[in-house]
Amino acid sequence: MSAQIYCSIRHAIESGKLSAGARLPSWSDLAAQLGVSRGTVRAAYERLIDEQFAIGLGAAGTRVAQRPPLPTTASWSPEAPPLPSIFNDFSTVPLAFQMGVPSQDAFPFKLWSRIQARASRRAAAAPVGYPDPRGDPDLRREIATYLGVARGFRCDPSQVFVTAGFSGALNLAIRGLRVEGRQAWMEEPGFPLTRTALGLAGMTAIAVPVDADGLNVEAGIRLAPRAAVAVVTPGQQAPLGMTMSLARRISLFEWARQNDGWIIEDDYLGELQLKGRAAPALASLDQDGRLLHIGSFSKTITPSLRLGFLVVPPDVARHFGDIAACLAPAPAACVQHAVTEFMREGHYLRHLRRMKRLYAARREALLRCLTEVASESIKVQATAGMTVVTALPQSVSDVDLALRARGLGLSPTPLSPWYISNSGQQGLLLGVTNLNERTLAADCRRLLELVREHD
Ligand SMILES: Cc1ncc(COP(=O)(O)O)c(C=O)c1O
Repeated sequence: MSAQIYCSIRHAIESGKLSAGARLPSWSDLAAQLGVSRGTVRAAYERLIDEQFAIGLGAAGTRVAQRPPLPTTASWSPEAPPLPSIFNDFSTVPLAFQMGVPSQDAFPFKLWSRIQARASRRAAAAPVGYPDPRGDPDLRREIATYLGVARGFRCDPSQVFVTAGFSGALNLAIRGLRVEGRQAWMEEPGFPLTRTALGLAGMTAIAVPVDADGLNVEAGIRLAPRAAVAVVTPGQQAPLGMTMSLARRISLFEWARQNDGWIIEDDYLGELQLKGRAAPALASLDQDGRLLHIGSFSKTITPSLRLGFLVVPPDVARHFGDIAACLAPAPAACVQHAVTEFMREGHYLRHLRRMKRLYAARREALLRCLTEVASESIKVQATAGMTVVTALPQSVSDVDLALRARGLGLSPTPLSPWYISNSGQQGLLLGVTNLNERTLAADCRRLLELVREHD
């Protein structure tokens, strides 16, 4: 009762119904009127006084305090997420053609929930002190071992920082390198969220074209020789899929060496390459400590973990440790324990092997379907990681088309927003991870009809 009385008087004050200076009824009058004890009213008044909504004046009663008007708060709704609409499928079950997420139906749900339950218990039983902000030492060791075995480069666990996915690692990298406000080479086309992140850090993204060999280093040198960093996806370029050639890798390091530049390697797919063996990480060629390597568990396990890592050269590891401690500590220990066990017990590499097989089969099925159903209007341009890149006629707006497709339960990603320049190629990126072989032909036909309607 006391809380109700407090709330209704507070509401009357905040909404202006009770104005400053107004006298509240005495405890006994209000208690009699409401049929409650005086003590109940008194407790409500005391709380209003403690919270500075009212002033107790002893025998002169209780009056409403003089308060500044309530700030008008901008209306916020979960329907208004912070990113452009093509990147805000938050917490939804993936639709056909959605890119960037692993398979929902092949996720090892039972195994993962068992491991996570054990990890939760271990985290709950841990001392109540602060965990290492650089990440759990066991996980840092597992990641260092994995990088040596699967990505071909050696590093010490002390160089590894556990982060909130790629985004968390990029933030840590930008702060650690103190490159805010400078220029950054960015692949054209390239991951739009990286470009937004660079802009948010006050950096200017310089669009450097990619060709069959990956980032065109000569073009970068022509456009912005003094850039502070180059952010690249050398393993499988995002979104076009080519692997950066050895010659380009060497000239990128040459540029970095001569210009005090830094290379940020976004190894978002890791060894998840569907055909052949993935090329070693660019980091394996770093002889001068100019490269920061970023990995993520978003594609290889699930983005819901929000877990990734940053590997830095040994001589800056201490400095990065300070930044992690003060500005970007590693995520919750419980998730880290779960991933540690997943890796240590061999599940991670086994899961990756299975997913490669599954995604390769789904990609083949999609390519077959596209050739049968849609060869004229939707042209397959490349296979890139877990997506198929298709080109559309320039007269078709890929953004409009992708939005219309949503209404039909399909989720292709438009290609043009991956370009900084406005003349980006129109196309659709078709994710293969969540295709359903039973409905695939019908899905492709629906997509084709949409393209024809737009042409
Ligand atoms: C090029 C690229 N880098 C990184 C990521 C992963 O980012 P995160 O680890 O923050 O999920 C993605 C995800 O779509 C990506 O496409």
